[in-house]
This record gives sequence, C-alpha cells and structure tokens, in this order.
Amino acid sequence: MVDVVLGLQWGDEGKGKIVDVLTPRYDVVARFQGGPNAGHSLEFGGNKYVLNTIPSGIFHAHCINIIGNGVVIDPVQLKKEIEKAMTTGVDIKKNLYISEKAHLILPTHRLVDAASEANKGVHKVGSTLRGISPTYQDKIGRSGLRIGDLLDPNFKEKYTHAIANHKKLLDSFNYDYNLADHEPAFFEAVEFLKQFKIINSEYYINSLIKAGKKILAEGAQGTLLDIDFGSYPFVTSSNTITGGACSGLGIAPQQINKVFGIFKAYCTRVGNGPFPTEQENETGEMLRKLGHEFGATTGRPRRTGWLDLPTLKYAIMLNGVTDLICTKSDVLSGFEEVLVCDGYDINGQKTSEIPFDLSRKDILPLYRSFPGWTGDLTKIRNYQDLPETFKTYMDYVEAQIGVPVNVISVGPDREETIMK
Ligand code: IMP
Repeated sequence: MVDVVLGLQWGDEGKGKIVDVLTPRYDVVARFQGGPNAGHSLEFGGNKYVLNTIPSGIFHAHCINIIGNGVVIDPVQLKKEIEKAMTTGVDIKKNLYISEKAHLILPTHRLVDAASEANKGVHKVGSTLRGISPTYQDKIGRSGLRIGDLLDPNFKEKYTHAIANHKKLLDSFNYDYNLADHEPAFFEAVEFLKQFKIINSEYYINSLIKAGKKILAEGAQGTLLDIDFGSYPFVTSSNTITGGACSGLGIAPQQINKVFGIFKAYCTRVGNGPFPTEQENETGEMLRKLGHEFGATTGRPRRTGWLDLPTLKYAIMLNGVTDLICTKSDVLSGFEEVLVCDGYDINGQKTSEIPFDLSRKDILPLYRSFPGWTGDLTKIRNYQDLPETFKTYMDYVEAQIGVPVNVISVGPDREETIMK
C-alpha cells in the first residue's frame, strides 16, 4: 500500500515537517522526483535539519528511506547531507537506499544551469541553480549518467563523454569556468556514495508492497511547479503530481491509496512567474516576516500572498487528493482581515478555472474577506480550542474545495500539530 504526500502550491508548503510527523505510521519513505533544489525542513528536540535529497523519514530509526529513480542526485550535495545526518547518530548505511536509475547531476550541469539562466534576460525562471533542468534535459535527451554508472569501472570515460556537450554549450555562452574547481569534490563524493545501498529500487519497493509494508511516497516542490500543469515555463523540470510517484518509483497506479495534499494557509512563491494573489505591500511584508518566508535551500526571500482557491482546487483535481493538511496557520494570527481568492475576473469574465497563461495581466483575483484573529496558535493542540474566526475561515475553505482538512499545523515543531 502506497500513500503519497505532496505540495499543492508553489512548493515550501512544509512537506518535511508533515512527512516527519506521518512517518511513525509507515515502514518506508520514498522520494520520487526533484533533487537538491528542494529543502525539506524538520524540527524536533530544539534542532532544525534541512534535507535536500534524503527522504524525510531518515530521523526515524525504524524507517527505510528510498531515493527513487525519478530523483536527480548531486553526489557532492548528497555526501554533505549524509555526513550531517550521520552526526545525529542515524544509521544511514542501514536505512538509505538509492535507485541505480536516479540521474546524476554533474558539475557541468550546475554550470550550464547558471550560464543559461544568465542568458535568459527577462525570461529568467529564477532557478535554484542546482543543475536540475540540464540534468533532466539530459535524461530526456538520453545522454544522462545514472547512479548505477558510478559502479562501472569505465565511469570516468562515460563522464568525459557526457560533459563534452556541456563544455561546447558553456563555450557558446562565453561562460567563464574552471572545471578543476569542481571535479575533485565530485569524484571524492562519487567514491563516498559507493559505500551505500545502490539498488534496483523498483524491484525492492514492489517487494515491500507485496510484503504488506506501508510506504509513503514523498514529493518535492509543488503542483504549480509541475512541468506539465504548473505555470509553465516558470516551473521545475519534473512531474510533481501524484502521477510522478508512479514513474519516479516504478509503482503501478492501483497501488496508490491516500494522497495527502499540503497547502499553506496563504501562498508563497520563490523565483519568477505568475502569482495572482501576490501582495507586494505591507501585508505581503508581514506574511514574509511572520512566516519566516526565506528559502530553505537558497535563503531567497519568498514572494507572499493570500490563499488562492482556484489553483488549490486545480491541484486537488490533478492529484486526486483524499486528505488535506493546512500548514503555517499560526502565521495568519494578528491580521485584521484575512482574504481568500475564490475566483478570477479575466477580461470581464468570472471563472474559477486556471487559464492557459496564468501570467496574463488582465487576471484579477476575486476575494472574500474574513475577520482576522489574534493570539498564539502554536500552543493549541485541539481543533475546538482554535479561535472561532479561524474556524469560520477554515470551514469556508473546506466547503469550497470539498475535501476534508484533517491536519492543521500551527508551528514548525513535530509537536505543533492538530489532528482534526
Ligand atoms: P529549478 O527547479 O531549480 O530549475 O527551479 C525552477 C523553479 O522552481 C524556480 O522558480 C525555483 O524557485 C522553483 N523551485 C525549485 N525547487 C523549489 C522548492 O523546493 N521550493 C520552492 N520553489 C522551488
């Protein structure tokens, strides 16, 4: 049985914490797409950890963690992450499994990412510059290298062949680089990774399903960054939706049971691209400040705005969400009024559907206003104890989207969670 957990907005919905909270119910956590562009933050025992590639179940000793074939792996980043996690006493050699089919982010992929973004002018996507897009391009272009290639005695030859095109590309951009600054750390990390379990993860995960193990498939980024359905071209390079769990882990669709969709009580976005409910004003500034809205991976300030129900409903439809989890509810405390967008006016036409081009300038969000609430929500553990005005707001959201909100997160710590 496989349940899926994923973000329903533009990423950063708080997936790391939620996976960590859900993990005690599962035997396995498996990441199915994305790479070190993701930053999943977890807090417990007064400490904060950010995971980029390792699944968020790693801090639970009973849990098997699989990095699936759909993920792209930067050996240098993964080595750092493993070393940091090991300092907490986690047995990574026992609990981490890496798909031999996951693609490798090479040093040149990161350079090409930087060079091509620099060359895009006003069309910049605002990439995290972790080499994600060039690596997925090579995967689709059938010229990538995979984790399984590390074990090939001719790996260096394969590497030299793979980077030849990247070098040509970098030269065409007149990009100034020195591979000697990057290659020693890369090859050191490659050697380091060989000591971990590099496996055929599709056979392994299907054998776990057969054995009755409970598996949680963990997504990265969010639905509005999906390569097919997100705000293209301002998206990431993988399928972030539930379907991505099938292709990113090698599991059949009928194995999927619950889909946990995570959304923030408001919206944020990093990088460029459309954001209809964005508040480029004092409200937005307050959301950023109270919500500590700065990227977990890049430290970039996040753009902020009100909850957008048309995009949320779209994400719920695409993912087949069965259970909703609302995060960062505590952040909205102290606002005089809280707005929710429940439709758009596009060139005079009212709609709650997402248009082909979400960047069009004539999209006006239509808002419903709710009276705000005050007080510290982070200490509340029972739904009944939440302010009435908060419950009115949440009841409206639930009624609009037609899926129950089962979990309300009121702070970053594991404990700051209300099960409804
Ligand atoms: P890339 O995936 O690094 O190429 O970035 C493409 C777009 O996705 C940019 O707008 C990034 O800011 C955004 N993005 C990538 N990963 C994340 C994430 O984990 N959280 C939020 N936004 C992300």
